[in-house]
Amino acid sequence: MAVVPALPTQCVIWFGEPLRHERAALGAAGWQVRAANADDGIGLRAGDTVVGVLDLRDGSHGCLDRLERLTDDHDYLSLLAVVPGETSHSPARHRVLDQCAAILTAPLDLSRLIQTLGRLAHDPLSNPIHALDALIGASPAMRDIHGTIRKFAPVDLPVLITGQTGTGKDVAARVLHELSVRRHARFAAVNCGALSPNLVQSELFGHERGAFTGANARRTGLFESANGGTVFLDEIGDLPLEAQTNLLRVLQEHSVQRVGSHESIPVDVRVLAATNVDLEAAVAAGKFRNDLFYRLNVLRLHMPPLHERGQDILLLAGHFLSAFRESNPTRARAFSADAQKAMLGFDWPGHVRELINRVQRAAVIANGELISAEELGLCGKPQPPAGDGALDTARESAERETILACLRESGFNISETARRLKVSRVTVYRLCRKHKLDLAQLR
Ligand SMILES: Nc1ncnc2c1ncn2[C@@H]1O[C@H](COP(=O)(O)OP(=O)(O)OP(=O)(O)O)[C@@H](O)[C@H]1O
Ligand SMILES: [Mg+2]
Repeated sequence: MAVVPALPTQCVIWFGEPLRHERAALGAAGWQVRAANADDGIGLRAGDTVVGVLDLRDGSHGCLDRLERLTDDHDYLSLLAVVPGETSHSPARHRVLDQCAAILTAPLDLSRLIQTLGRLAHDPLSNPIHALDALIGASPAMRDIHGTIRKFAPVDLPVLITGQTGTGKDVAARVLHELSVRRHARFAAVNCGALSPNLVQSELFGHERGAFTGANARRTGLFESANGGTVFLDEIGDLPLEAQTNLLRVLQEHSVQRVGSHESIPVDVRVLAATNVDLEAAVAAGKFRNDLFYRLNVLRLHMPPLHERGQDILLLAGHFLSAFRESNPTRARAFSADAQKAMLGFDWPGHVRELINRVQRAAVIANGELISAEELGLCGKPQPPAGDGALDTARESAERETILACLRESGFNISETARRLKVSRVTVYRLCRKHKLDLAQLR
């Protein structure tokens, strides 16, 4: 392994061999040069700024094998290619050059090289390793997601993030923001389902003094306060129709009108929206504006169900166990073979959030160093009841158990719990209060 410095560094991963004076010039300009020869990785750290240099000057494309072999993450490296000069014999343009952000011709002009590296380093995509780390996964499905995020992030258009509850839509939205040029401005997230229908307009777009009873002072809405940044509208399917009209104005005219005013105030925000309901069906049912749907649905990111991510399940489980161990006492260090098998075979209806909950619960109750399938609650025990009229007939304690089990299974997502129990979200909240289930604590 290469020696990893303590502070985030500017690194050039050089595929091929830099000449001695090139290495020295890069070092003097603050770039650490790592040769991409080692078969055991290049010792990148989250936070490092990394640019890859593909040295194709010898015309052999040998270094491309290394690019393939060395790191699965090379998709995310910003690449600069150095190609033979025009007078040299130059074979057909290699397709890897299409992926390079810059191409320099030999003989290499060192000041140009350093200037170009600097430019690539300030491109947010040159340092995506850190942001994409938040979305753990190496399965083909997740590699696709990483690739798509990388493409969508720098484009200043809305992204509609779909996927079942607990699949990582929030995380994806944050990563999109982090990898965009807006990353130094605000990421303002709001759950449309949690806003009171009376106040949603005012929360999002603000209001003037006296706009309605109780509006004692002017209020700036979320869109205005996130100017320059990203607004993430979670559970967009729950946005009332009137607010949908105003959102359309933001997307079409880049302006908002506060409640009680006709003045258009310019706002510059990128809108990301997420939903775990079928928005097309909501459009068909007249609950969601068709024109808004098309505006939001330009770029779509679909988070795959956890059971489609294969070995990622174990990767994630290991990660959540380590994270738990960092701040909690537990004997558990890893998962037994039967636990791993059970996790790989389970359907994960609550997806990643359910995995976190099961791992944490298992870590608390674990008797030994290895967490068993039983401790994860994956021993073929009957799944909690969820179905028609379950709440109507259940006695008090059974009702509490049913609610709790359903909350757990759906990763404490209220909409999903309500759907499973076939009751309204308000009823779920009411039952939680009745049975003293403190959602914040349970989560
Ligand atoms: N790929 C991942 N790597 C690491 N953590 C993840 C990943 N996906 C999800 N998580 C974690 O799982 C939990 C649920 O994820 P998140 O809140 O993003 O899901 P969601 O799709 O927005 O769910 P909901 O529809 O309920 O809002 C969070 O704690 C999140 O940090
Ligand atoms: Mg979410």
